[in-house]
Amino acid sequence: MTAPAPLRSDELKGQSAIVTGGAQGIRRTIVDALAAMGARAAIADIQGEAAARVSAEVSAAYEVAAFAVSTDVSQRTHVDDLARRVLEDFGSVQILVCAAGGLLGHVARPLEQTADEAWHDIVNVNLHGTFYVCRAFIGRMKKQRYGGIVNITSGAGRSVSRTKIHAYTTAKAAVYGFTREMAKECGPFGITANSVAPGFVMTPLGRDQWAMKSQEEKDDLMKSIAVGRTAEAQEIAAVTAFLCTPRAGYVTGQVIGVDGGHWMFG
Ligand SMILES: NC(=O)c1ccc[n+]([C@@H]2O[C@H](COP(=O)([O-])OP(=O)(O)OC[C@H]3O[C@@H](n4cnc5c(N)ncnc54)[C@H](O)[C@@H]3O)[C@@H](O)[C@H]2O)c1
Repeated sequence: MTAPAPLRSDELKGQSAIVTGGAQGIRRTIVDALAAMGARAAIADIQGEAAARVSAEVSAAYEVAAFAVSTDVSQRTHVDDLARRVLEDFGSVQILVCAAGGLLGHVARPLEQTADEAWHDIVNVNLHGTFYVCRAFIGRMKKQRYGGIVNITSGAGRSVSRTKIHAYTTAKAAVYGFTREMAKECGPFGITANSVAPGFVMTPLGRDQWAMKSQEEKDDLMKSIAVGRTAEAQEIAAVTAFLCTPRAGYVTGQVIGVDGGHWMFG
């Protein structure tokens, strides 16, 4: 299957988007998808140099303003600096995609051997980072009475995780709850908030996970995907970008699985 090219339009022209963790993987394709619809983009990633490369490429490819901010989303002060910088440069923000997350190099351990550090690392980035970023921009979005928020979670949040990492499953499930609550509070202000749960994608994170599986686990995983293949990052990005457009203005508080039907089989 060839990855679908981003849909080009001017639907998001004049709008500003922030994508956290946009330097690589799924999030990189989300930046492309939003820029292809005309949105200006700020890319907030802990890998500042990689984010700067992406912003230069996106700006040249789609002729939109783009810049990178080196940000650790798990640090409140970094997120406050990010908000200041983005509002100075763009003046307003209409689109927020919280995608910074993942396993941060941690591997599964039985619960009794799970270190505090591993638990806190994963929860800090996947959950607290999402909270810090949404909180930093929501006041401005409410004032302008318009906005689209998408938090990237995982099928792990509504079932169990194939990574077998408790903190990951917990953090992703919590992001669902946080996003629902935000949808209810912010709906009257014209703001939508949804979660996108990607299936298995061969990003750097996905490739690492794949390499750690036995042949039996790989076969089992493939059998549990209704469409019989792993996802292309662009397929996750296309749905995420759609949820940020006015066409999706009546979709809120949802978890949209872009997982080839995997959730039906656990
Ligand atoms: N790849 C998959 O199969 C898969 C499946 C389900 C869910 N997900 C979720 O989708 C999201 C994207 O995954 P991916 O595969 O693209 O990951 P990836 O590991 O390829 O990319 C991770 C990105 O996040 C950035 N990042 C890490 N910690 C950060 C921090 N503290 N602050 C800011 N940026 C930080 C990294 O620099 C990198 O650019 C994650 O939330 C992941 O949990 C991925």
